[in-house]
Amino acid sequence: MRTPLVIGNWKMHGTIVEARALAGAIRDGLKRPRGVQVVVCPPFTALALVSEVLSGSPIQLGAQTCHHEPAGAHTGEVSIPMLAEIGCRWTLVGHSERRKEIGESDELINLKLRALLTQGFTPVLCVGETAEERRQGLTFTTVEGQLRAGLAGLGGDQIAKTVLAYEPIWAIGTGVNASPAQAAEVQGYLRGLLSELASKEIAQTVRILYGGSVKAENAEVLLAEPEVDGALVGGASLNAQSFIGIVRKAARIGTATKE
Ligand code: PGA
Repeated sequence: MRTPLVIGNWKMHGTIVEARALAGAIRDGLKRPRGVQVVVCPPFTALALVSEVLSGSPIQLGAQTCHHEPAGAHTGEVSIPMLAEIGCRWTLVGHSERRKEIGESDELINLKLRALLTQGFTPVLCVGETAEERRQGLTFTTVEGQLRAGLAGLGGDQIAKTVLAYEPIWAIGTGVNASPAQAAEVQGYLRGLLSELASKEIAQTVRILYGGSVKAENAEVLLAEPEVDGALVGGASLNAQSFIGIVRKAARIGTATKE
């Protein structure tokens, strides 16, 4: 049984005042989430504050990216020990916005993943195809390349500690989510690859989230798919009520119907 996981990716949104209010509302609305794990990923400037707001709450803290070196002359970057110091144990890796805007390569993403795993973090490796790639029938080729390169050189025990997120780029921030069948098809394919890269047993334990225009209204049908182990939520995670709504649906489905 894979515990459903819901992650809020706040992206580059929120002043300190807004972050405090949002984190506080999520904490108060989810005092004892049962059957679901919840993580929020605020921007760097709000991490320390949100860590304080969430202290004592079961909601965990994640970063949106990190540098793979522990320290050094890397202007503008934030290291994994710096994140650990403020209570962060999760990090998104290879989000499509960073691949596209910052030019993050599969090789760099792999370095980050290895560093995170070595330092006891849970990396959330994001993969997904563009609309054009899907049109050309390249969806599986694209995600397979991203997965193999991202996990290159990792042992089965490390793969077991990784979370995957399938985020079709055409679904991110567009309001057009993948259908449950589309998500399940790609996520089943990714799980098959995990069996090959690690083992069948390990592949069965790794959580694969879906991301891309997840809202409280469509979360139920997406999360009902056995291959969808949770959601990576962007826009809808900026509103406490809609994020809480998604978490509640994940909790209900996770405890009730799967397996
Ligand atoms: P969205 O973003 O929910 O706003 O589509 C998802 C993501 O980019 O992680």
